[in-house]
Amino acid sequence: MKLAIPKERRPHERRVAATPDTVKKLISLGLDVIVEKDAGLMSSIPDSEYVSAGAKIAADAAETYADADVIFKVQRPLHAAEGDIDEMALIKPGAILIAILSPLSDGATVDAYAKGNITAFAMEFMPRITRAQSMDVLSSQSNLAGYRAVIDAAYEFSRAYPMMMTAAGTVAPAKILVMGTGVAGLQAIATAKRMGAVVSATDVRAAAKEQVESLGGKFVMVESTETGETEGGYAKEMSDEYKEKQAALIAATIAKQDIAITTALIPGRPAPTLITKEMVQSMKPGSVIIDLAVESGGNCELSQAGKIVLESGVKIIGHHNVPSRVATDASALYAKNLLNFITPLMDSDNKTLNIDWEDEIIVGTLLTKDGAIVNANFNERLTGGK
Ligand code: NAI
Repeated sequence: MKLAIPKERRPHERRVAATPDTVKKLISLGLDVIVEKDAGLMSSIPDSEYVSAGAKIAADAAETYADADVIFKVQRPLHAAEGDIDEMALIKPGAILIAILSPLSDGATVDAYAKGNITAFAMEFMPRITRAQSMDVLSSQSNLAGYRAVIDAAYEFSRAYPMMMTAAGTVAPAKILVMGTGVAGLQAIATAKRMGAVVSATDVRAAAKEQVESLGGKFVMVESTETGETEGGYAKEMSDEYKEKQAALIAATIAKQDIAITTALIPGRPAPTLITKEMVQSMKPGSVIIDLAVESGGNCELSQAGKIVLESGVKIIGHHNVPSRVATDASALYAKNLLNFITPLMDSDNKTLNIDWEDEIIVGTLLTKDGAIVNANFNERLTGGK
């Protein structure tokens, strides 16, 4: 079976879906691995390392995709209207595509996978069960994004994080507020604490309190009987009354902060607005806001993807694709997630895939099969069964 690792072509993407380490293991599972020329370059992996690991290098996209039975990607393939290369057209019918496919924000591609008879797996739909933790791409990438947000804030902040008592005077510690304490937020708290900042944090899920406090952060939360958590452990959209109370709490807290890092997301919905223009204006000049939710609509009213917006002396930063700003580690963890996903599906003796279509992990992530859309997230569009 031929496994292809194409170069990523979407803007701001520096990651790659396999590393020399995972290539070795994929080959030992019985796969022939083909890596597109320069696929790892932006993650500091030269082609020679893939060759040493046993992969073949293909000269271009057409050669990479040709006859591939399985394709590992970071982001969804380009289609005709999106670039010079129509990657979708290069995928053979019946091939298996495994990537972060963003099906909820780009529904047309889901139809295209079905039409092209591609068996597509969306890694972001991985169920959050113990067995699937090592395959959870949202966790592996959010963790690095949370770390990087703190570093990006430090870079744009004209003061230091830790308290310093020097002969020339005392430097006050930076005050950082982390909004949304899922995987990214918790890593941001841990990183900011390690760098000496005074950290507080907020979330709609009461369960987050203990986690924040165990990392040394102060938990700030609206007093309410309303629960912000779904059965799956994610946040839900809150009532208008809760939102008003939360806005008042944030307004009172944020004016005293130097840095705000926002990570709040609600699966399948636009990110909640947590920081208004007035709140930004209440912050001291020189303050920094990092909006990690910017590509899902943003937690700050003023943030713009790919830009640093300046308002009343406050920098509002909306970097694209933050995991990609730590591309080498992000690729290593992502590649491991994919390896862990495919390993139990491989029948190494026969060098073929042996997929249990009833398995919870498969049912959760499978988008299209045999020309039909089969994922529960698209119930209204289901075009067939397994
Ligand atoms: P996420 O990326 O969907 O959202 C980030 C954070 O924003 C969440 O903590 C959410 O509660 C918070 N948020 C949403 N709306 C908000 C609002 N209006 N105000 C303030 N905060 C708001 O979350 P992520 O990182 O995916 O984590 C969600 C949950 O899943 C967490 O409890 C996490 O510990 C859990 N988890 C479980 C795993 C497992 O395998 N069992 C793996 C990874 C995470």
